[in-house]
Amino acid sequence: MPHAAYVFDAYGTLFDVHAAVRKHAGDVGTDYQLFSEMWRAKQLEYSWTRALMGSYADFWQLTEQALDYTFQRIGGVDRALRQRLLDAYWKLDCYPEVPAVLRKIKARGAHVAILSNGSPDMLRSAVDNAALGTVIDDIFSVDALKTYKTAPAVYDLVTTHYRFYPDVVSFQSSNRWDIAGATKFGFRTVWINRSGLPDEYFDLKPSLILPSLESL
Ligand code: LAC
Repeated sequence: MPHAAYVFDAYGTLFDVHAAVRKHAGDVGTDYQLFSEMWRAKQLEYSWTRALMGSYADFWQLTEQALDYTFQRIGGVDRALRQRLLDAYWKLDCYPEVPAVLRKIKARGAHVAILSNGSPDMLRSAVDNAALGTVIDDIFSVDALKTYKTAPAVYDLVTTHYRFYPDVVSFQSSNRWDIAGATKFGFRTVWINRSGLPDEYFDLKPSLILPSLESL
C-alpha cells in the first residue's frame, strides 16, 4: 500500500550504531561487541529516564555519558580511544541497502524523513557523511521538544508538520520499543528486525516485520 510519508528511525535503522566501535575493534579488544552493546544500552536508558523525569539533556550528551560509563564498567580499554570513538559516532556507516531504498521510495512520490532522538547536528552529520542529503526531505529531532521517544509528542512532530493523519505515515525502526511507541501513536509500522530478535510488546504489534529495509 502506498503511503504519503516514509519516516525512518536513525540509529540502528539507517545508521549502524555499532560501526564506531567496530572501526576501532582492534584497539578496544576482545570485548568490543559487549562494549558497543553497553554503550548503546546506557545511551537509550538515559533517554528513557530523562524523558520520564522531565530532565532533558541532548542525545550527544547522553552518548558521551554512556561511553564514559562503559569505560568504567568494562575495564582495560585505553581511555585514549574516547575521542576517536566519539568522532566515529558522527560518521556512522549507513546500512548498505539504505541509499537505493530511499531513492526508490522518493521516486514513488512519498516524503522521506528521519525521526530521531539524535540532536540536529548529529543527524545532519550522519546524513551528510552517508551522502543521503538529496533523498531525505526532512529531519525531525526530539530536540525541538526536549524529550525522547516514546513520548507521543515526538511522533506527533511528523503529523503536525505534514498535516497528515498518522495512518498515512509508514514508520520504520529496528528498535522494537520505538515500534511500540509509533504503533500506539497510530502510525503504520515496520519493524526492521536486523538481528532476528524475539518479538515483545505483543499488544503493540508492527504492521510488518522485515529483516532489512531492502523489500520496503
Ligand atoms: C533514534 C534512536 C532511538 O534514532 O535509534 O531515535
